[in-house]
Amino acid sequence: MKLAKIVLDKDYVISKIDEKVFSSFVEPLGRCVYGGIYEPGHPTADEKGFRKDVLELTKPLNLTLNRYPGGNYTSTFRWEDGIGPKEERKRRPEVAWQCIETNQFGLNEFYEWSKLNGSDVMMTVNLATRGVLEAMDCVEYCNFTEGTYWSDLRIKHGYRDPHGYKYWCLTNEIDGVWQVGQTTGTAYGRLAREASKGMKLLDDNIKTVLAGSSSPGQASFPSFDADALEESYDFIDYLSIHQYIGNAKNDTPNYLAKSLITDQYFKTAIATIDYIKAKKGSNKKVNISFDEFNTWHSIAEEARFDDKWKVVKPLLEDVYTMEDALALGSMLLTVLKHADRVEIACMSELVNCISHIRTRDGGGAWVLPPYYTFLMYSKYGRGTSLLTSVDSPKYDSTDFADVPYLDEAAVMDDNGDITVFAINRSIDEALPVQIDLRGFGNYAVDKHIVLESENAKDTNTEEDPNRVVPHNNGNAQMDGSTVTASLPKLSWNVIRLKAIK
Ligand code: AHR
Repeated sequence: MKLAKIVLDKDYVISKIDEKVFSSFVEPLGRCVYGGIYEPGHPTADEKGFRKDVLELTKPLNLTLNRYPGGNYTSTFRWEDGIGPKEERKRRPEVAWQCIETNQFGLNEFYEWSKLNGSDVMMTVNLATRGVLEAMDCVEYCNFTEGTYWSDLRIKHGYRDPHGYKYWCLTNEIDGVWQVGQTTGTAYGRLAREASKGMKLLDDNIKTVLAGSSSPGQASFPSFDADALEESYDFIDYLSIHQYIGNAKNDTPNYLAKSLITDQYFKTAIATIDYIKAKKGSNKKVNISFDEFNTWHSIAEEARFDDKWKVVKPLLEDVYTMEDALALGSMLLTVLKHADRVEIACMSELVNCISHIRTRDGGGAWVLPPYYTFLMYSKYGRGTSLLTSVDSPKYDSTDFADVPYLDEAAVMDDNGDITVFAINRSIDEALPVQIDLRGFGNYAVDKHIVLESENAKDTNTEEDPNRVVPHNNGNAQMDGSTVTASLPKLSWNVIRLKAIK
């Protein structure tokens, strides 16, 4: 394989990376909440029913925000159902996922769990089938100090201090035909504007997220987003977009090229935002909240109508493999490469359901290979995103031309240490790489971590949880200001370079 070259220059930076791009998403869907983060009676459950074995796996991800509760779940969500004494909470049919919602886990349980996990909550309000006032009530309950109906009720429920939620999603995927309450960009933009206005009048510290397109494949993208922004631009703070990629053709080289769609998706969404900004002559900068993304293979439509109206049923429990670790990895690197405009990124979802953390009811918890990609992204991806100038050998896949074998991003942390993330997309050959550090001074290779496996479909199971785990035996070497390394076929690499002071 031909040599791939990366040039980094001390003066060429993209932007500081926002801490909120290290976030996730928890929806009461399948066994994400019930049987995932919450399972009273489980041997590791604490007195509140939170599984400690799951917390041990979520905490190292060092998540900034967890988006809650949805997701499709939001479109018929009544936030008031999940507060107050548990024995008085209503059981409801939950139509998005065709389950029974017992509401034993609600808004305050998620607040408690998030505190234990060390993350903040990004709350979603239902504007699909409810309205401005219910959204404002939720802000009043969560954030108002005291002396009003909803804030005093929160205090009565045991929460003297306000939850103080800063980030609020103005409903979810309302462009989607699968959503109860689907509407047009214009109608939604007007509603979102008024909701955001009311919510901010109650708490001027909050930031709101306009629900844009649910996929780059939506026929209404980007006009839905433009129409919604047109109505709400100066009243909201972020545009949300979502994307899931899959390998339906069972064609690994093609699958691994799909982050190119993510890249174009960001560019188009940013152009759409800036077009509306220019049209309005606004000074406000709206950025992107990529608040649902992952790889996804199962078919939601089929799964949810199986075995209806159960309290807890396994849904969307995809078995993720080594190739999914790389496909997700490329999406994460695309986020870092757009650090100047992507300020929130929530990997979807956190446990069991389209997730890399898996549990057995009453049994163990283990992780699938993409867990490690996200873990390393979160651990080493903080700081400043550096511009990478790249010359890589390329391939053509079924749907894409000129796909670089190398995918990469580089980050400098606050100590001046540099991390180069590098993926070799080749299914059969190692990729030699040379990294030229221009003007950075003296550096040494600290470590070269590799996630690899013989077979693209290798994964971990409860019985064999360590089949695909990262190792520290990468061969990166420093010579002067040049790093050389060989990236094994189908591998995710983290090359840590320490500044010698
Ligand atoms: O994450 C699963 C579902 O995917 C979410 O509920 C929805 O927002 C998206 O379509």
